[in-house]
Amino acid sequence: MKQISFVFQILLVFLLLAGCKQKPEIGLLMDTIARERWVKDRDAFVEKVEENKGTVIVKIADSDPDVQFQQALELINNDVDVLVIIPVDMVVAAGIVKMANNRHIPVISYDRLIRDCDIDFYVSTDNIKVGEDQANFLTTVSPSGNYVLIGGPTSDNNSYQLYLGWMNVLQPLVDKGDIRIVGSKFVDHWDEEDGYDMVKGILDKGETVDAIIAGNDALAGGAIKALQEKDLAGKVLVAGQDADIGAIRNILLGTQTITVYKPIESLAYNAADAAIKMAKGKKPSDNMSFTVNNGHRLVPAILLDGQVVNKQNIRMTVLSEGFVAEQEIFE
Ligand code: GAL
Repeated sequence: MKQISFVFQILLVFLLLAGCKQKPEIGLLMDTIARERWVKDRDAFVEKVEENKGTVIVKIADSDPDVQFQQALELINNDVDVLVIIPVDMVVAAGIVKMANNRHIPVISYDRLIRDCDIDFYVSTDNIKVGEDQANFLTTVSPSGNYVLIGGPTSDNNSYQLYLGWMNVLQPLVDKGDIRIVGSKFVDHWDEEDGYDMVKGILDKGETVDAIIAGNDALAGGAIKALQEKDLAGKVLVAGQDADIGAIRNILLGTQTITVYKPIESLAYNAADAAIKMAKGKKPSDNMSFTVNNGHRLVPAILLDGQVVNKQNIRMTVLSEGFVAEQEIFE
């Protein structure tokens, strides 16, 4: 009898250990790493989770929502403790969140809000304010004239938020008749080609353009290429976002006016801290009173501020904070 109870105890300990993961395991579902900023997000996130004795399984969907769905399924079936999602497509991602909810896996929406579902936490920049900052800068330089707006894909909630920010600033000037919006579109991808095609189309029609506001630096870079072909680069104001190396170089050359630099390290660290806390069954943050409505619920959130980068403040911003290195810009 004694022997049976001993064997039973060993078995119990074994089963308990097997059920208990050594380290918190966080699944990070990424849209892409084709744009510079996402490499920084990934590296900072992984570094911070590992510093907190956790592990990260990174999956990159190469901008395919179906691939992201399959990758999510894999992570959920592997029983990760927390899912952090940078959604390719917010509608498909809402389906991923439902799957995670069914398995009681907490979800953090990173940078891009996943709407109409039960996410636990949202970490991002104030994207409406980023849009306002871009438009405020350009309209201060050029309070009248013809503006082009290049929005990102509609599968990304940030595209709408940036647009809201742009129009908060531009609408009163449009109403006064000072500004004409001669092109405004949500493109299919956050890519250079989409920016190029849109601006080329507008210039080919013979339209005069004074200023271009683009959702990110890749779109802005494409716009600048189209301007270059018509010998207009440097004569038209261009705003982008993300502080890509190419954009900083263009700002120094005078072909791009501004970019907006997001505090990527802080975003990633905040998300990593929250993920580790949630993996241990705690609340994602000590301050749960700030919330963002995702159409389904008020989601506890952290929204950080972006920072406008122009020719004058490159040193004081992206360089001094080590976001880019001097040799990357001036090589
Ligand atoms: C957006 C993000 C931008 C930019 C873009 C392209 O969601 O807000 O900062 O990185 O994706 O990846």
